[in-house]
Amino acid sequence: MAQFTVRPASVTDARAMAELFAAVAEERTGIATEPPVNVEERTAQFSASIAESIVAVADGQIVGHIHTGVRRYGVGELGMLVDREWRGRGVGSALIQAAIAWARAQGLHKLSLEVFTHNTAGIALYRKCGFVDEGHRVKHYRRANGELWDSLVMGLPLSETSNYPVRRLGVDRGQHDIEGRAARVAGRGPERRQPGRQQLLGDGGARADPQSAPPVRPAEPRSADLAPAGQDAVPEKPAKLAA
Ligand SMILES: CC(C)(COP(=O)(O)OP(=O)(O)OC[C@H]1O[C@@H](n2cnc3c(N)ncnc32)[C@H](O)[C@@H]1OP(=O)(O)O)[C@@H](O)C(=O)NCCC(=O)NCCS
Repeated sequence: MAQFTVRPASVTDARAMAELFAAVAEERTGIATEPPVNVEERTAQFSASIAESIVAVADGQIVGHIHTGVRRYGVGELGMLVDREWRGRGVGSALIQAAIAWARAQGLHKLSLEVFTHNTAGIALYRKCGFVDEGHRVKHYRRANGELWDSLVMGLPLSETSNYPVRRLGVDRGQHDIEGRAARVAGRGPERRQPGRQQLLGDGGARADPQSAPPVRPAEPRSADLAPAGQDAVPEKPAKLAA
């Protein structure tokens, strides 16, 4: 079986990440975004939050990536995808374990994600990694074909004594949200993203608002880890992940 490695993403990966994202969007099943994807815009978005992304690489090609969108209250929102040709070979597992280790190193107290209820591979992967069901959103997502899809909200507590520096919701952020709403109402572009908000459901977490991501901090010892044993078994854990 061909080998792959997992490492922090760099800005030079952003284009390949965006192209893979566009290919997975074409499947119209696992991630929330549907085609057409503006690869240029996605490249810029991935670049802006590259410090929160981890990639899987095989033979020099990006075959998967995961993004941990860090929220100001200390939660990481996961989004991930794997190249169709590489699924079922452990890439998703390796990425999520690396993201869990990265989140612990950042001092986040919890990881969260949202997955379509029909995504059996995704749900199995998340449960295997210790995520638990937190809620079921019924007929929540309108798809381009008019269907309404359900989703499952899942979470993984990491530590109740994490030391992530919670930031106050301030004037700047409020202003930003107002701008985001205005952009959404204006309906710019095919993806119509709200800047500063990561779209969930595995969308890879491209975030246009680097402000909302705190600076990457050096790893510090954690205590009171709550995640199941073995969560720290990170395949080829990079020295300093960025996501
Ligand atoms: C979901 C996804 C990321 C999983 O990645 P992957 O590389 O295939 O995952 P792995 O090979 O590490 O498999 C992990 C676990 O998932 C489960 N799994 C994988 N493929 C499965 C399938 N087709 N059916 C059921 N369970 C499956 C298994 O429990 C497996 O663990 P095991 O091999 O120890 O039994 C991948 O299928 C994907 O990118 N899908 C499209 C995009 C997407 O759905 N992203 C997530 C949005 S929330």
